[in-house]
Amino acid sequence: MASVSYPLNLFLFIIFSAHSTLQTRLSVGDTDALSAIKTTLRDLPGSDFLSTWVFNSTSDPCSTFSGILCSDPTLGPSRVTSLSLGTGLEGSPGLLGSLSPAIANLTALTQLVVYPGRVSGPIPPQLGGLDQLRFLSITGNLVSGPIPASLGGLANLHTLDLGQNNLQGPIPPELCELPQLKVLVLASNRLSGWVPKFKNQEQLLHLDLQKNCISGPLPPSLPPTLRYLSVSGNQMSGALHALPPDLGYLDLSMNAFTGDIPLSAFRSSTALLQRNNFTGPLTDCADTVSVDGWTVDLSHNELSGDLPGFLAEAESLFMNNNQFTGAVPVEYVRNVYTGRMRTLYLQHNFMSGFPLPAGSPLPESASLCISYNCMVPPVQSSTCPASAGDLQYRPLYQCPVFNNITSIHL
Ligand SMILES: *[C@@H]1O[C@H](CO)[C@@H](O)[C@H](O)[C@H]1NC(C)=O
Ligand SMILES: *[C@@H]1O[C@H](CO)[C@@H](O)[C@H](O)[C@H]1NC(C)=O
Ligand SMILES: *[C@@H]1O[C@H](CO)[C@@H](O)[C@H](O)[C@H]1NC(C)=O
Ligand SMILES: *[C@@H]1O[C@H](CO)[C@@H](O)[C@H](O)[C@H]1NC(C)=O
Repeated sequence: MASVSYPLNLFLFIIFSAHSTLQTRLSVGDTDALSAIKTTLRDLPGSDFLSTWVFNSTSDPCSTFSGILCSDPTLGPSRVTSLSLGTGLEGSPGLLGSLSPAIANLTALTQLVVYPGRVSGPIPPQLGGLDQLRFLSITGNLVSGPIPASLGGLANLHTLDLGQNNLQGPIPPELCELPQLKVLVLASNRLSGWVPKFKNQEQLLHLDLQKNCISGPLPPSLPPTLRYLSVSGNQMSGALHALPPDLGYLDLSMNAFTGDIPLSAFRSSTALLQRNNFTGPLTDCADTVSVDGWTVDLSHNELSGDLPGFLAEAESLFMNNNQFTGAVPVEYVRNVYTGRMRTLYLQHNFMSGFPLPAGSPLPESASLCISYNCMVPPVQSSTCPASAGDLQYRPLYQCPVFNNITSIHL
């Protein structure tokens, strides 16, 4: 892509050089700020971003600098309204250095992006003064230190993405009170402490806190507007409360949550709750919940009792490594053999019955694993993952009931 954009930049450069009367006058303050911003950054080898940032008597940042958009020059001296540091092109190595507090002097900024690279050091707390800012994204760099609480002053902010950096310390409660915030991504950092309570938050659609060191429970009242919630790969614990009603994606996997799984967890087309400490039987609630075509992963918990009928509608169902007992429900088996359910993992439970359909072969697209239960599997569980191990059934002493009948016909 870089080879395509280079001639275009050159072309624009020639046009603007030839018509210097088209020059926009950037305000002196913003020009000084850009100059200061450049001094703390440089291109990584293979990146060619800052080479367009040349300051001299005829230079015109608004038209020749990469990564800059300015306000309408007919309304007086232009202001920088959008600053993108780095090209964002796939494969571009990005920038090295640190973020200058002078960014905060670009007070007309509505958008600030730092594309992936090796920018390190803190997020300047002064950025909290950019009160026009709507979009702030600093991702895939090495930015460290705490998230400045001052960012809670960004009253117009609708997207904050600080994912994949080295940020530490707690999530400032101020971030959970930003009135316009729709997207909050703090994934893949080293954040700790509890998730703050959300206040005055009637807009938030997307909350991604995965892969940090966050502890404590999920706050009892999450914004009811949430569609996407991931806290996967933290150290969160405690019981779940009712989840927001319109969640389409829920990922609570790899934490230490306990207690029952609330029915509201099954309103999401992707419900990932594996590798926690959820306990108890699942209530059958076919009347209130439909998981038709969805992905549900409850594996590696402490769930017990019978498999509930309503989950038979799922397209991919992972229930392995729990303490489920009883027979596999007929609806589950029928849906696997008709190709409606593509994955059914039940290995490493205490199940003791499998109603084998007469005559119909397992569809090639189906993944079925029922090994290491309290029965001799009536079908070859050849689609088990390697983690299921080689043993076809549990030792008898572990089983309250053991089923030797190798085929029950539907
Ligand atoms: C940024 O603004 C402050 C306050 O107006 C000023 O003192 C400082 O010199 C400015 N920095 C740059 C690099 O322009
Ligand atoms: C200013 O910089 C531009 C872009 O690098 C260059 O083409 C131009 O000759 C320079 N002008 C002066 C007066 O140095
Ligand atoms: C789950 O609970 C059991 C017993 O209650 C405990 O021994 C185990 O450490 C817990 N696991 C996690 C991941 O919290
Ligand atoms: C059931 O099968 C197991 C394993 O094949 C065998 O050890 C056991 O004796 C069988 N029990 C009965 C009652 O057939």
